Amino acid sequence: MQQHIRRVAIIGTGLVGSSAAYSILNQGICDELIMVDINQERAIGESLDLSHCIDFTNSRTKVRAGTYQDLGDADIAVITAGPPPKPGQTRLDTLEIGAKIMNDMIPQIMASGFNGIFLIASNPVDIITYHVWKLSGLPRNRVIGTGTSLDSSRLKTYLSEILDVDPRSIYGYTMGEHGDSQFAAWSHISVGGKPLLQILEEQKRQLGDIDLDQIVEDVKKVGFEILKRKGTTYYGIGNAIAFITKSIFNDDHRIIALSCMLNGEYGETELCTGVPAILTREGIKEVVELRLTEEEQRKFRNSTAVLRNYMSSIGY
Ligand code: 2OP
Repeated sequence: MQQHIRRVAIIGTGLVGSSAAYSILNQGICDELIMVDINQERAIGESLDLSHCIDFTNSRTKVRAGTYQDLGDADIAVITAGPPPKPGQTRLDTLEIGAKIMNDMIPQIMASGFNGIFLIASNPVDIITYHVWKLSGLPRNRVIGTGTSLDSSRLKTYLSEILDVDPRSIYGYTMGEHGDSQFAAWSHISVGGKPLLQILEEQKRQLGDIDLDQIVEDVKKVGFEILKRKGTTYYGIGNAIAFITKSIFNDDHRIIALSCMLNGEYGETELCTGVPAILTREGIKEVVELRLTEEEQRKFRNSTAVLRNYMSSIGY
């Protein structure tokens, strides 16, 4: 019996794309990786280098350089193309150039017959995800942004250090823009099922007063702390991309904070932003609607207003 070949295309083979490819390959998540870049030489160089890892991994992944025309039977197209924000910029400052890159790229990908799932990591990820949805004409469940998955992981990293608990035993999300207007849905964060706010109250003597607002500020800023020191970020987002890709192929129905196209959820339509969602082989099955506190709802609306403001600058 012929088996389905799981194909992932990485579009943009800079540091984010190649880190994602490296992580995908090391975990044996797909059978074939197609590396695509406007700089073909770079794509060839990355695919050669990556293909030399296979002998040291547990499964055989074929890696090759390709073009947009090769995406016709790809299951997932990961979009990482675009510039990282420069020091002093926010992610939103890269919108104009990012949108232009998509205007050129997405019609070419669609012309290949691509009918899979777009996974967008290019910043500003929420608006670029919406733009790709518009340009591609694909159903909303199959155009997904990495959203606040990385920020949620950063939040859990900080909390794990404070509580001395494995971050994977902490459940909860930051939501909204993958950017400065995101917020933590504190009322829904739990540690092994126990509400975080209750733990902080009970352990006040040992832990002292934990400044939750400062933690969120740190989550927002840490990407830029990395940027300042090494020019860009790529391992965290690379692993987030691999994790999301694996959850899709495994049909895990895992809940991840992704940038989803909202259709009435959280009172919003025609907008992509970071919300917890159930992820399957078909893409987003369902946006999980948390009952947010009034304060959290206010922060959510503030974040969507920021996104809408920037969306209007590219004609939405
Ligand atoms: C990050 O948060 C810059 O969006 C990138 O790592």
